[in-house]
Parts: sequence; structure tokens; C-alpha cells
Amino acid sequence: MKSAIAEIAQTYGIENWGAGYFSVNAKGNLVVHPAENDNRSVDVKVLIDELVRRRINLPILLRFPQIFANQVRIMNQSFVAAMKEFDYKGQHRAVFPMKVNQRRQVIEAYIEEASKHNYGLECGSKAELYAGIALDQAENSLLVCNGFKDDGFIDLAYIGTQIGKNVVIVIEKLNELPRVIERTQRTGIKPMLGMRVRLYSRGSGRWEKSGGEQSKFGLTTTELLQAIKDLRDAGMIDQLRVLHFHIGSQITQIKRVKNGVKEAARVYAKIRKMGIDVDHLNVGGGAGVDYDGSKTSFESSANYTLQEFANDVVYTIKTVCQEEGVPEPNIITESGRILVAYHAILITNIIDEIETVQGIKNVPFTDNEPQVVNELHDLYKTMTSKNYLEYYHDALEHKEELFTLFDLGYINLEQRAKGEVLFWEVCDKANNFAKLVQYQSEEFDDLRKLLSAKYLCNFSVFRSLPDHWAIDQLFPIVPIHRLNEVPTDTATLVDITCDSDGVIDKFVDLHDIKEVLEVHDLRSGEPYYLGMLLIGAYQEVMGNFHNLFGTTNEAHVTIDGNGEYHISRIIPGSPLSEMLTFAKYEKDFLQEGFRKSLNRQIKKGKLNEEGAAQLIADYDAYYNSYTYLDANGNKREVRD
Ligand SMILES: Cc1ncc(COP(=O)(O)O)c(C=O)c1O
Repeated sequence: MKSAIAEIAQTYGIENWGAGYFSVNAKGNLVVHPAENDNRSVDVKVLIDELVRRRINLPILLRFPQIFANQVRIMNQSFVAAMKEFDYKGQHRAVFPMKVNQRRQVIEAYIEEASKHNYGLECGSKAELYAGIALDQAENSLLVCNGFKDDGFIDLAYIGTQIGKNVVIVIEKLNELPRVIERTQRTGIKPMLGMRVRLYSRGSGRWEKSGGEQSKFGLTTTELLQAIKDLRDAGMIDQLRVLHFHIGSQITQIKRVKNGVKEAARVYAKIRKMGIDVDHLNVGGGAGVDYDGSKTSFESSANYTLQEFANDVVYTIKTVCQEEGVPEPNIITESGRILVAYHAILITNIIDEIETVQGIKNVPFTDNEPQVVNELHDLYKTMTSKNYLEYYHDALEHKEELFTLFDLGYINLEQRAKGEVLFWEVCDKANNFAKLVQYQSEEFDDLRKLLSAKYLCNFSVFRSLPDHWAIDQLFPIVPIHRLNEVPTDTATLVDITCDSDGVIDKFVDLHDIKEVLEVHDLRSGEPYYLGMLLIGAYQEVMGNFHNLFGTTNEAHVTIDGNGEYHISRIIPGSPLSEMLTFAKYEKDFLQEGFRKSLNRQIKKGKLNEEGAAQLIADYDAYYNSYTYLDANGNKREVRD
């Protein structure tokens, strides 16, 4: 039989999507393991308590570089095992796409592990390449340059080659090729070249459009043949070393992976048979993260493991090469999401609850209420398990009537308030009866959502979970404590931006999408913390500064051999000053504007010099404070 804690953990599906990195301890707190099947763990609540004691404010992003490293290890082991099983002759050479998370500390953590396996980096822009060139990646690893390229991008790639990096310039559009040919002919510098091919095959899930004939990326077959001819004519065909494709991120079905690889392997083989020594096949990224733990082809899931992904890639390429009688190429993967998603958790505190209209105990009813209010009151008092459905429908009609009467001026504000309270109380009661029956009417699903609490969370969806806002991506969300108490309430989450889109009302579920999250009741004077998990891929870099909420405070945590945790680094989130400068409000400009208004008040005699000096000091004190809500009302500097 499952323990109570295990059952509560199951409510949130921790075991399903946690990949062995997350569990719940005997205290009912969420814990993080540095690797699957590793007994060492960090108690997240204890960690947050320590950070709060050290005056690091919520929201806090927790990074676990060991998890990132472990994912890199798992990928390496998966490919090594697959290549051994199928007696594959080529090597696996992974590159991490910087766009998935460019933060320096994240990339450095990657390079530390990646260097052990000769894994490298992928860049998709000049800025990423500029950084990539300067990073100390393993000597034998690749630096792959994808994306559309202008002269500057190509020049940077040549600079990279000159300083000894194994740069691969992937030709994304045919017009990039003459510029590459010109540079090599002029300088004699010979970077490796790749061609991105536009496959007929597509991925599956939200990013399906990245592949297929209508894709924005890659060369058509005609263009590919033209590019080969141009390289031959220029005497540079020996530089063509890589064939590249990418059919989309978060591919949910393994079948689609196999189809893409099969088609690309065939293209590779045909090029090989033209007497060209291409020796790498780059299968792009796309390995999916099982965000909801359902292990299905649902959009927030993936119906395969990393080992199955590696097996299918290796086996499919091997089979095609055998059929065509060509050598097996080295395999480049550009997986990002699957490597980095698990390592980051955002912890937010609940600031308050936004109430629906309820609270009958506080409403004084008299004998002179309007009829509509009396009728709602009767429904409330006499509802039973037998009539709740009928009474609920009656209440809906009475609510309409209530607002019509108010619009026509027949009832006053107090009477309207009483009617509203009664209506929601009737709904609540009906909902409780509905929960007891085996087959629930669908209309109560919507009602349940309406009756759920709204928890006001100290974070910005736009900054920290942009994919939830933009494309309905689901992320696991779990209280990090009190997991030994059955959560008795349900809630949707609202953020602190002034935007009605700043909500989370879709949650992971094994079989469906939940519209509400199971939560505990809020206790006065006690913090309630939620963790948003698996957010290490894309979220930080795609997040925007809506309402000028900046980056969050960040703590990097490792666990040593004795199971002790260490906060190895704290990176302060953006202070107001950073966000204001971003929006081009320079300090001088703001201070001048403030003083102008101040002087006007002094002139009018509404402020004296002393009061003005105090106001200047008060205003200045906020300049370096955190952009998020401070539960203690401090205007504390972020960089303390
Ligand atoms: C060319 C290319 N390679 C690799 C990736 C990384 O994909 P993922 O993070 O799904 O592994 C992407 C992202 O879409 C991409 O466009």
C-alpha cells in the first residue's frame, strides 16, 4: 500500500515526470537528487529557508548544475550503448544549442561535463558565436554555426577557425555559399562546411512546422545539388563534411524521429555515392521532455526515452548505410531541451488569495430583502443531494434576474452584494454534492474552476514561464512543502503583472490537462511556496520584461559526496535600475524629473527643504531594489 506522502506526491505526478530527480521526504518537503537512483538529496524547503535567512528574496531560481551534467552523461551513455549494440563504426559528437539557455554559468556547467565526451556547442547568431568562440570547449569538439548568416557572421566563423576551433559553417541558404567560397579562396582558411537539407519529413507536436517542405529552413534538393556543383567548381568539395537537418523541437513521437533520420540518411548516402566524403550526419535537436509524465505523444510529453532515441537514430542510419553500401557517418546531435530542462526550478511565494464572492456568515439578512434574494436564500437553505442540479440551474436564472433588476435600478448595491454572495454559496454547495456522485455532469467542471481559489504568486509568467503564456506549454508545479498534508483546496495561479494573461490555469495530469492545481489552505503568517519545475530550457531566454519585472534571484546548488548541499553561487536578480536603464530611463533623467516636481511643491510652500531631502532619499532607496514583491516591505538593495 502507498504511504500517505506517496499518494500526495502522486497527486502532482512527481514520479511520472521527475525522471528520478525529484521526490518527497518524510517531512513532506520536495527534495532534489543530483542523479536518478542517487540517495543524496537537497530538501528544497530547507534550502529556501536558508536563502530567505540570508536575505535573498523570492522568487528564486534554483539551479542544479549536477542535473544538467547528469543529463549530458545519460545522453553519452545512451549513444555509446546504442553504437555498441549495433556495432556502429562512427562516433557520436553532440553540440549543445546555446539558444536553449545561453547563461554563462549554465554553458560553463555544460562544458565541464561535455569536455569529457568531446561534446561542443551550436550557435545560431553572431552574439552566440561571439561568446562561443571565447569559451574553452574541448579541443576535438565541434562549434556548429546554424542560422541565417550575413558577412559578419561568416567572418566571425573564420576567426573561430583561425584560433583553432572546429567550426562548422552550415549553409542555411544558397546565397551564403559564394561568400564562404570567396573567403576561403582569398584567405586559404578552410572551415568545415555543412548543408542543411529541407526534408519532406516533419516532426510532431508544437514545433512540427520546423520540418517539412514548407519549412523556413534548409536547402531544397535542387539547391543542394547546385551547392555541391559550386563547391566542386571552386575546388572546395573536400570541405563539405556535414549534412544537417532538424525537424523541430519537442518531437512527441519516436516514429517521426525515425522517418526524418531515414530520409536524411538516404540523402547522405546518395551524396556519398557522388564521390563526396561527407563524414558527419547532423540529426539536429528535438528529443522530447516528458513534462506531464504520460510517456505519450501528447504535446507536453514524448513517447520514448533518450536511450530509445539513441537506438533509433543509430540503428536507422546504420540500416540505410548498409543498404546503400556507404560508410557510417559520425552522428552529430543538437539536443538542447532534454539536456537542460530538468536542472532549473523557480520557487515563488503566494502573496495572497484573490477571493471569489463568498462568505455568507458575514451577510446580515433582513425580512425586507427583494424577492430574488429571498429565492436564492431558499435555494441555499434547502438544497439536498437529490435536488442540487435543479437548484443550481434555478440559481443561474436568479443571477441573471439579479443583474437585470440592478441595471433597471430596482435594487441597491447592498442587495446586489447579498444576491452575489448567495449565488456563489449555492454554487459551492451544489459543487460539493456533485463531487459525491460517480458520473459528474460536465457543467460542474467549469464551475469547479470558477469556484477554485486564485493564488497570487510572486512572479511573472511573461518573464519565467513564457511558453505557458505563448503556446500553452505545460510545466509541473508543486508545493515544495506540506506534502504530508492532503491538499484540500484547488486553485489557479495568477502572477503579479498587470495583465490578465498572467495566469496559469492549465496543469500537468497523467491522462488529461488539469484546469486547477491541488493546493493547501493558506495559513496566516506562514509562507506557502510553489516550485515550477523543468523550466531550464528556453524559458529564461524567451522570457520578456513585461511590467519591467526583471530576472529573478538565482542560487546554484550542488551536493557533495557526503550528501551535504552547498550554495555555490548566488546571482542577484535585476534591480529596478537595470530594468529602467533597459527602458532607457537613465538615472540622471529620473532624478532631474523628480527634483523638478519637488521644487514646484517647495515653491508652493507644500514642502520644506528637510521634507524634500527626505523624499529624495526615500526615492533613491528604491533604485537598487528587487523588481518583485517583497513580503517584508523592504526596499532592500538586490546587490547586498
Ligand atoms: C537547428 C536546431 N538545432 C537544435 C535545436 C534544439 O532543439 P531541442 O531543444 O528540442 O533539442 C533547435 C531548436 O529548435 C534548432 O532549431
